[in-house]
Amino acid sequence: MRILRAKDYDDMSRKAANIIAAQVQLKPDCVLGLATGSTPIGTYKNLVAAYEAGDLDFSEVKSYNLDEYRGLPGDHDQSYRYFMNVNLFDHVNIDKANTHVPDGLMEDYEAACAEYDAAVAAAGHQDLQLLGIGNNGHIGFNEPCDSFIKGTHCVDLTESTIQANSRLFDSIDDVPRQAYTMGIGTIMGAKMILVIANGDAKAQAVHDMCYGPVVPSCPASILQLHPNVVVVADEAALALCPAE
Ligand code: GLP
Repeated sequence: MRILRAKDYDDMSRKAANIIAAQVQLKPDCVLGLATGSTPIGTYKNLVAAYEAGDLDFSEVKSYNLDEYRGLPGDHDQSYRYFMNVNLFDHVNIDKANTHVPDGLMEDYEAACAEYDAAVAAAGHQDLQLLGIGNNGHIGFNEPCDSFIKGTHCVDLTESTIQANSRLFDSIDDVPRQAYTMGIGTIMGAKMILVIANGDAKAQAVHDMCYGPVVPSCPASILQLHPNVVVVADEAALALCPAE
């Protein structure tokens, strides 16, 4: 794992966007694994600015998002499809037909999840997978549990995640209790993984991801076994990590 120290959120966002931009420039038809949450918003803003400056062309890029709330349609303002449209896809020249987010309304979800994994594999796997990290060490919506679940699947969200994400909903009762998420195997299939984190609420999770034992009670710890991971985190998120 390589850890890049950022001064603050803006610095983290710029550094992360530079890495994604380099990927798109070097391989214009690359496959990006994309993430939602507050953390990547600044990264996406920088990518939009680079596109507007004429430095990036997304016309051949394919994307696969990590996760989606179960039961939310794509036009719901808290759905992750909506988030991606508003924060990135509507502002660059990506072909929406090449963008994929798990369908929150899928009916036969076991079959649909298997199809999602098959589509990621058929596309050649993610050249670059962007990840945020939950306060409890979750990646995508892979919550702490007893085993690493390989494929895309339906998860019961933990109280800690429901609480953390309730800030974006009118009331905590409106937060879906379940979600679909790429599994750990689907994430680990990426050729390169870029983790971004900021703020002191992430400090323990970032420490455990980078230096703790590899255990499913901290899903992000599995990333220690991936050969090509870059972590871009600000000083607050790195506060519990040894200075290198
Ligand atoms: C959410 C998402 C994750 C995200 C994490 C952290 O629940 N499913 O993909 O990385 O929580 O979110 P934030 O960036 O808002 O702190």
